[in-house]
Amino acid sequence: MIIAIDGFSSTGKSTVAKRLATALDFIYVDTGAMYRMVALTAVREGLVHAGVLDEDALMGHLPELTLGFRRGEHGENLAVLNGELVEAEIRTMEINRIVSRVSSIPAVRRQLVAQQQRMGLGQNLVMDGRDIGTIVFPKAELKIFMTADADIRAERRLAELRSKGDYTVSLAEVKSNLLQRDAEDQARVDSPLLKAVDARDLDNSHISPDEVFQTAWDWAKEKM
Ligand code: DC
Repeated sequence: MIIAIDGFSSTGKSTVAKRLATALDFIYVDTGAMYRMVALTAVREGLVHAGVLDEDALMGHLPELTLGFRRGEHGENLAVLNGELVEAEIRTMEINRIVSRVSSIPAVRRQLVAQQQRMGLGQNLVMDGRDIGTIVFPKAELKIFMTADADIRAERRLAELRSKGDYTVSLAEVKSNLLQRDAEDQARVDSPLLKAVDARDLDNSHISPDEVFQTAWDWAKEKM
């Protein structure tokens, strides 16, 4: 069984996806982390100059990348790039600024979508991202599309950055980055962020994480 969770940035997709996967004993795959690992490679290889990405040079590095995940001590999902734990490095504002650009490159999407589809072969999983219910698993048994008010999303994302020790960005900067990423994710030509026709809407603006989980859990049980 495949559960696809799509939606805008910071709508709480990963929180509900992780909880659902744990409760159902399914594998959880955070596809945003995979695009973030490619973006980290671009930064590390010095391919971003004044906000402009050298796409051709990045293409040359794609075949060398092994994107994976490891279970942390507390059962958390940690991003691993070529064997190196990069969970903290992929969640910075520097990566937030470039990741939508990286994820709009068709060759990057082709490689990552193929890997994501292989992960679903013969396995029960919960996968979150932007194109899971439309492109990666159009036949997913359950599709959820998450939304939330932009101010609430910005506050949640700021709290997350603060909890990781980042005090350099303001709420306004976080909100503007979120809105810009939403616009870029919706506008890209290759597999834009789009609600699948058969996805169920889940608005996470004014309900608690427990209520979000309960709704998703009830929907999953209905399908099982
Ligand atoms: O979910 P996130 O914020 O970690 O995702 C990071 C970026 O990757 C986001 O700007 C959109 C992109 N992305 C995508 O294009 N397709 C996916 N399936 C997942 C993420």
